[in-house]
Amino acid sequence: MTASIIDGKSHAASIRQNIATKVEQRINQGLRAPGLAVILVGADPASQVYVGNKRKACEQVGFISKSVDLDASTTQSELLAHIDALNEDPSIDGILVQLPLPDHIDSSTVIERIRPDKDVDGFHPYNVGRLAQRIPVLRPCTPLGIMHLVQSTGLKTQGMHAVIVGASNIVGRPMTLELLLRGCTTTTCHRFTQDLRHHVEQADLLVVAVGKPNFIPGEWIKPGAIVIDVGINRLDTGKLVGDVEFDKACERAGHITPVPGGVGPMTIACLLQNTLFACEQYHS
Ligand code: GUN
Repeated sequence: MTASIIDGKSHAASIRQNIATKVEQRINQGLRAPGLAVILVGADPASQVYVGNKRKACEQVGFISKSVDLDASTTQSELLAHIDALNEDPSIDGILVQLPLPDHIDSSTVIERIRPDKDVDGFHPYNVGRLAQRIPVLRPCTPLGIMHLVQSTGLKTQGMHAVIVGASNIVGRPMTLELLLRGCTTTTCHRFTQDLRHHVEQADLLVVAVGKPNFIPGEWIKPGAIVIDVGINRLDTGKLVGDVEFDKACERAGHITPVPGGVGPMTIACLLQNTLFACEQYHS
């Protein structure tokens, strides 16, 4: 079997086009454009690239993009003061604080300070709780993007055994909740999981988010499985690879996301989708 490649880039482009059209309609009706504030603390090169892409995407669909770039030495209370101001700013619908934060800042305190109706990352305990109780509102962007990609295969997820490798607050945990919501039987694997191979071999739907190049050998993939690779790892050669051994996995999977061009573009498209949702549902 040779897997179908799930083209995240083109799905993301069509979501973005849809959003741009809706923004244009709002402007024609005399309504304001949605506004997203992206806060970056410090100068981590990877975070700078991610934040740059988010800000560019915002502008491309006609959103107001507000950039808050803070020095790595910024104190937690200074950062909280920026969030307080954005919470009160009527032109801002979404606030995103790029993670990770410097060690002297507590991420949970920062995330909890963002008003839940402006938490377009979907990380606030209110939004995570809504998802856990099957009444989602603002949903974490990467898992949401993955659900769009899974849906694009046309396969019925109900009853599938979904195996999620990685249990972070950004991807693995909310991913498990999203898949549960769609009727999957879920197994979440993490650093203490024993016999990872055994679990991966059971997966009708496999999501891998560990950040280690080629961590999952292609021969572990169940024939016909949907394989979603969240990892973006740069090798010494400069080449970008995922967490799954792509070429070998392609020989067994039914559907697979490439790296780059799979999950990454969908995360940004869903951030825009969440910002438009916050604007229309909460702040219009
Ligand atoms: N760091 C890595 N992924 C993300 C994300 O989706 N949102 C934020 N805020 N930080 C991240």
